[in-house]
Amino acid sequence: SKILVLNGPNLNLLGTRQPEVYGHVTLKMIEDACTRHGAARGLEVTCLQTNHEGALIDAIHKARGTQDGIVLNAGAYTHTSVALMDAISSAQVPVVEVHLSNIHAREAFRHKSFIAPVAIGQICGFGARGYIMALDAIAAYLEGETL
Ligand code: DQA
Repeated sequence: SKILVLNGPNLNLLGTRQPEVYGHVTLKMIEDACTRHGAARGLEVTCLQTNHEGALIDAIHKARGTQDGIVLNAGAYTHTSVALMDAISSAQVPVVEVHLSNIHAREAFRHKSFIAPVAIGQICGFGARGYIMALDAIAAYLEGETL
């Protein structure tokens, strides 16, 4: 399966951005780990980061018919973007939402996610490991894995 690991605004700064909240791991380290972990699970992982809302929407449109799933950390657009939510609704590609931090334990404005209602599920609070968990989750979903 082909999986797009898509990161939104400010996530290019990981490693130096509020390390007390987001940790010391860089985006490059996360993307390399996703590519490696994906390959070990038979997933072909493509990584993309952009600070632009429209570019995230374009990437989601482009994923339709070309990707089997998307691991998405939309950053702050998570809490604001109806356009991103609509793009996911229209894309017909399963999305797993990821956040490094536990958004539900932070400011009230971070509790609302426009992504969550249109995602398979949400993984947050586990730091960079959340991306690996999301890859496993989407692989299991695509394989129709049950207990
Ligand atoms: C984030 C959480 C968002 O609230 C914040 O705006 C981010 C990062 C996370 O990964 O924890 O940019 O998505």
